[in-house]
Amino acid sequence: MSQVTAIKQSNITDTEFLNDVLNGLTQEQKTLPCKYFYDDKGAALFEQITTLQEYYVTRTELSILEQYSQAIAQLLPDNLSIIEPGCGSGKKVAYLLAHMANVKTFVPFEISQEMLSYSLAHLSPLFPELVISPLLGDFTHSQMVKQLTKDTALDSQTNLVYFPGSTLGNFSPVKAIEIMSNFHRLCGVNGYVLIGIDLVKERQVLLDAYDDKAGVTAAFNKNLLGRINNELNANFDLTTFSHQSRFNEVHSKIEMHLISLCDQSVIIDNQQIHFDKGESIHTENSHKYTVESFAALAGQAGLKLENTWQDANDYFALCLLRPA
Ligand SMILES: C[S@@+](CC[C@H](N)C(=O)[O-])C[C@H]1O[C@@H](n2cnc3c(N)ncnc32)[C@H](O)[C@@H]1O
Repeated sequence: MSQVTAIKQSNITDTEFLNDVLNGLTQEQKTLPCKYFYDDKGAALFEQITTLQEYYVTRTELSILEQYSQAIAQLLPDNLSIIEPGCGSGKKVAYLLAHMANVKTFVPFEISQEMLSYSLAHLSPLFPELVISPLLGDFTHSQMVKQLTKDTALDSQTNLVYFPGSTLGNFSPVKAIEIMSNFHRLCGVNGYVLIGIDLVKERQVLLDAYDDKAGVTAAFNKNLLGRINNELNANFDLTTFSHQSRFNEVHSKIEMHLISLCDQSVIIDNQQIHFDKGESIHTENSHKYTVESFAALAGQAGLKLENTWQDANDYFALCLLRPA
């Protein structure tokens, strides 16, 4: 088995979840941060989503990795460390690791304990020589780079920051630039950043991917309310909310919402929140890029696009970047 150091935790506090929920639900357009989707039930539902017919995202990115991971690995220097923020199941990085013999350390960095444990169970038997230094934390945190270097076995100035799954698309352009600026600092002057982005495509394909017929995405979205009930002493009735996916043409993004089916009030930690019938809680954004729009965004984070690899339908792109 690989050498897995103990899971360390940084920058997640117990009160942050409550504060984020109350703050989001007292805005004029109610919102909830999507980083809270992944409790144990949410993590299992997400894994189910990745296998759905409508959800082309995971199988398309995996097909690109199957075809090109060796070519990608050949462009990278020996002896680098890999950091994967929001590593999820860890299945994608395995494709790269299979072609990289001299990786110094792999740092899976997750907000979800369940996902982190899942990724360790998947990767450690596959790569017996690999040093794995897992970190439980929030990659959107402003101190992220400092914490990562302090709390993990990272000792390399030359790193690969690997960010697949189109997770970048969950953030506004301003936040995406901030996150990529942190990746820029983290990778080092001779390092690399590899990001998976979902490309602009036919509207109905996008809408279906976030609203499958079997209702798994709806259950995933509603589970956020279930998690608030379980962890924050709230009384949401999940049957009084419905899932909706919308395409926002202006900002080129899919939005997920939960719509209140009636006038109602919900108690969260002794605070009452009112919902009008038809009112929405905006729970997730998923921005869709062109390679050009993404390169321009990355440029604002000081990163230059070096290579892209795409599938035959041009649904998804893996983009390799370097400090400009
Ligand atoms: C869309 S999934 C992608 C998982 C994986 N990277 C893949 O491509 O299959 C997003 C993952 O990022 C994690 N995540 C979301 N927000 C996070 C944050 N702010 N900090 C750390 N991890 C986060 C979630 O727990 C989840 O596992």
